[in-house]
Amino acid sequence: MAQILAGQHILLCVGGGIAAYKALELVRRLREAGAQVQVAMTAGAQQFVTPLSFQALSGQPTRTSLWDHAAEQAMGHLELARWADRVVVAPATADLLARLAGGHADDLVSTLCLATDAPLTVCPAMNHRMWLNPATQTNVETLRQRGVQVVGPEDGPLAEGESGPGRLSEPEHIVAALAGTALPARPSLPLHGLKVVVSAGPTYEDLDPVRYLGNRSSGKMGFAIADGAARRGGEVVLVAGPVHLPTPAGVARVDVRSAAQMREAVFAAFPADIYIGAAAVADYTPRQPAANKIKKSSESLGLDLVRTPDILSEVAARTEGRLKLVVGFAAETENVAGYARGKLQAKRLDMIVANRVGIEGGGFESDSNAMTAYWPDGERAFASAPKTQLADELIDLIVERLQA
Ligand code: CTP
Repeated sequence: MAQILAGQHILLCVGGGIAAYKALELVRRLREAGAQVQVAMTAGAQQFVTPLSFQALSGQPTRTSLWDHAAEQAMGHLELARWADRVVVAPATADLLARLAGGHADDLVSTLCLATDAPLTVCPAMNHRMWLNPATQTNVETLRQRGVQVVGPEDGPLAEGESGPGRLSEPEHIVAALAGTALPARPSLPLHGLKVVVSAGPTYEDLDPVRYLGNRSSGKMGFAIADGAARRGGEVVLVAGPVHLPTPAGVARVDVRSAAQMREAVFAAFPADIYIGAAAVADYTPRQPAANKIKKSSESLGLDLVRTPDILSEVAARTEGRLKLVVGFAAETENVAGYARGKLQAKRLDMIVANRVGIEGGGFESDSNAMTAYWPDGERAFASAPKTQLADELIDLIVERLQA
């Protein structure tokens, strides 16, 4: 299936009707179309389908309550509302439509719908008499006037043996309707109108045609930062070293291999407003890569390495087309604050983000990390969290520093 929703974050809110079982198929279709899906269910929906079924299909924990401490700690409901590029309510029962029209926030689903500023799509499903009732029609009209997309219902046999308009739209029709409406540009987003260049991943410095010097950077942090910056309205160029990670939605990606290529791609992306150097750039590269495979001969082998250009320092030193903010990263095994502040000063950065490597549950290949950001007259520690969440928090700090 074509990836017509590639990279989109879709929050699916499932209402309490018999058609809730069809929402399972919708999750499958949304994912096939390339979307990431998180599911929230009303109490009624859980009478028809279990949260576990949605969890199995979405690959994410299903949210069922505003008052679930563990779920709130992992990702608060307001954060979930912000995570979403789109919110889809399917099935939307008569009662749920009334509560959305009335602006209620007395359970998880209604609160999410009220708290998000992402576009909302509702897919009604109910008995045809309930659908045709003027109360429901008025509620749907109210929602339409607020810019809510209404998909369906379709006409045909209903669960109670009757027939008429009230069937939940077929999942493939819902996916097509979503793909047919482009996500609007959101000028209210804090990075709207700013160009952000992000470097990510390792670099590979070739020794000969089959060997290279590399490092263990996974690129996850840089990709999450690019994603977070695009989500906040930035025009993002992601210069990626050799990693196999999907390109975040709305991000222009340039793949490179060596430090020299990374430098070239970064400078080719300028002018820009913000540079975030999250790549683990090799500090040294072979003076002259061997044209042919190096054969083993003597007992030891020396490598003649030369320094690579320090891309970050060069970016920070630009006088013409000076950037508004230059952010570097530092991976340290000891004296984190001391080394980080030293680099902040030596490289004339606006901010440096340091993390300790070589410990359990953090660092290069891990999905989570703890880190501290330092700027000339301040610092902020970020508690250990998934890299996607840290990236979001870091972008929030960057927005703050831009406005400072
Ligand atoms: N960096 C760069 N170009 C290089 C080397 C590093 O742009 N040739 C950037 C990285 O993207 C990162 C920061 O510099 O943002 C890391 O700083 P660096 O001083 O290279 O850290 P380390 O390599 O850890 O330095 P050291 O080995 O001295 O600790």
